[in-house]
Amino acid sequence: MRFFFLFVAVFFAAHLVAAKPDSAGLVKAGFSAAEKQYAYMLSAYTDLKLYPRSADPNGKTTFTTIGDWTGGFWPGCLWYVYEYSNDEKWKSAAVKWTESLEKNQFNTNHHDIGFMMNCSYGNAYRLTGNESYKRILIQSAKSLATRFNPVVGAIKSWEVFHSWDGKAVYNFPVIIDNMMNLELLFLASKLSGDANFRNIAIKHAETTLKNHYRPDYSSFHVVNYDAKTGKVLSRETAQGFSDNSAWSRGQAWGLYGFTNVYKETGQKRFLRAAIKMAEFYINNHNLPADKIPYWDFNVNQAGYTPNWKYDASRFKEIPRDASAAAITSSALLELCRYVNGRQKEQFFSMAKAILQSLSSPQYTAAPGTNGYFVLKHSVGSIPHNGEIDVPLVYADYYYLEALLRFKRFRF
Ligand code: GLY
Repeated sequence: MRFFFLFVAVFFAAHLVAAKPDSAGLVKAGFSAAEKQYAYMLSAYTDLKLYPRSADPNGKTTFTTIGDWTGGFWPGCLWYVYEYSNDEKWKSAAVKWTESLEKNQFNTNHHDIGFMMNCSYGNAYRLTGNESYKRILIQSAKSLATRFNPVVGAIKSWEVFHSWDGKAVYNFPVIIDNMMNLELLFLASKLSGDANFRNIAIKHAETTLKNHYRPDYSSFHVVNYDAKTGKVLSRETAQGFSDNSAWSRGQAWGLYGFTNVYKETGQKRFLRAAIKMAEFYINNHNLPADKIPYWDFNVNQAGYTPNWKYDASRFKEIPRDASAAAITSSALLELCRYVNGRQKEQFFSMAKAILQSLSSPQYTAAPGTNGYFVLKHSVGSIPHNGEIDVPLVYADYYYLEALLRFKRFRF
């Protein structure tokens, strides 16, 4: 009899969790904040050549132009608000901003076309099925594929990389962020039937797993290759604290990217890697109690020495990076779908804890402030002295994506 009551209690508890993953109303609150901020943004800024990206120290929105890596996030945010609200006004804004990026389908200047086109046109195609978007996505993948070098087995990220110590210049840098651009290639294979895009993505992931990761599954930011032989020439950082440190957003890009490669391939080696990356974040002794990471996991630690001009006295506290947290939360909610038992609960709890922190007034801006972005306290690049403790459009994008994944999640 006791077992019967226990069974009934467990059944109802499980049912409750399944029925109400969002008992605290995080999703509603997050999208309500987004709707308010983005209504201000849309009415204040109508020039389709200026893409909202961040805010200056006075809280005024800053922008980039079409060639920058972040242009696709603003339309992407609008698509997520439309997906949540089903309100046509967000759709028409999302269409307008998405279509402003059309010329980027031919952009072969850097690897970021995946971010630019998948977050805008990828969401547009997913939510509307518009056939003209499909052609643009396939052409975008073709442009990205031009940067693949079969000898290296990777897509070249940037044209050039200058070491911070000024001693070397490299011509085939690959950064961990590049894992995010593979999603466009997998999509293009499905849309076109051409397996080449997918093969390139898998090869790039293999090479990255082999050369970017340390035994503890922290990642180097930049790996420089010899384009003729494929040999690794150096492993360094561009945006992290030191060459041997774990830059928080890089960790997030890797976790998200490898989770997606597992989703697309079903190959267990990629799942095992993503799990290790998730564990690196979750078990990290240097992860603050609110689960929003410092901008790099190793700032100011013994054994980590920056090669750039770092002045610790400039920072009363080590800046956090809400963008890394938002990307991590979204990635964990995807990874949760492929694991079971204690691991599933652990990854889900961490994703939820991050969302709870991001949704608190500590990280969510009051309406009308923060350059009309939702989240505060992200970091672009401290070594480059740019965008420190500011809103960033991609923090908002992955936060909204995580909220939608959280809403859909069922144990
Ligand atoms: N992909 C550039 C960054 O994460 O800052």
